[in-house]
Amino acid sequence: MVSMKDSNIIDITKVVSLKNKPASSVASDRVNTGIPGFDDILNGGIPRGSTVLIAGTAGTGKTILSSQFLYTGVVKYKEPGVYLSLEESPESIKKNNLKFGMDMGHLESTGQFSFVKYDPYHVDDLATHLEGKIREMKAKRVVIDSISALKFYLREETNYRRMMFNIMNTLKRLGCTSFIISEIPVGSTGLSREGMAEFISDAAVVLYYSRVDSSFTRAVQVWKMRGSGHSESLHPYKITKTGVVVYPKEEAFIDVKH
Ligand SMILES: Nc1ncnc2c1ncn2[C@@H]1O[C@H](COP(=O)(O)OP(=O)(O)OP(=O)(O)O)[C@@H](O)[C@H]1O
Ligand SMILES: [Mg+2]
Repeated sequence: MVSMKDSNIIDITKVVSLKNKPASSVASDRVNTGIPGFDDILNGGIPRGSTVLIAGTAGTGKTILSSQFLYTGVVKYKEPGVYLSLEESPESIKKNNLKFGMDMGHLESTGQFSFVKYDPYHVDDLATHLEGKIREMKAKRVVIDSISALKFYLREETNYRRMMFNIMNTLKRLGCTSFIISEIPVGSTGLSREGMAEFISDAAVVLYYSRVDSSFTRAVQVWKMRGSGHSESLHPYKITKTGVVVYPKEEAFIDVKH
């Protein structure tokens, strides 16, 4: 766990030790995301036990993509999942996901999937609470939606960074393969508001929604993936009636700031 000094400084030696720990040291096999085309640009999937930052501006499909990761995990691979939503209500996520053919309420009723209920007045207990739910569910896949929203509850920068590090560390320690959602403010050049998540996560994927001539195009890029090769191109993706679909054989041409 990161040790915090009295000031606002994080002990970077501890952060670096987590950063340098390759995901492949946890386990060598890969986790199939279940998102059509996505695993192809990830060289076959995510190294098991990795924390994957899913970054993008508002409305790029981060919640839908992450839901697909959990949903497929249960129905196809029998891997229980946990969803911590700090923004949208579980009811809203469930309702929207039904439109894409994902009945998460059914998975809940069969005990294979759970939303984490948290108390915004006791947000300091969040990492412990999350760990309890992961252990109870024997969850293999976890989604945190989003670390940007944590900032609303933990306004003080040091507390926010400490919590983010605790959550990432908990997920790694428990061997979960996790999607950590980060909302990029429009016009920002980083992948997260605080500029730290992209360094301490094992992998980072960016979703873009950008204007090309008179229409908008969606594109996805694997920014980094420790211990593995991956596509270095920008690929188009669409939000279809079955959710996110990535086109691994096509390249997108949009002007990105990063
Ligand atoms: N039925 C649908 N068919 C096609 N596209 C849809 C459909 N429903 C939603 N979308 C698209 O998906 C987007 C919302 O997806 P999602 O909620 O996953 O985005 P997000 O990145 O999580 O957004 P936020 O940053 O607000 O949390 C909408 O802005 C819209 O473009
Ligand atoms: Mg969302």
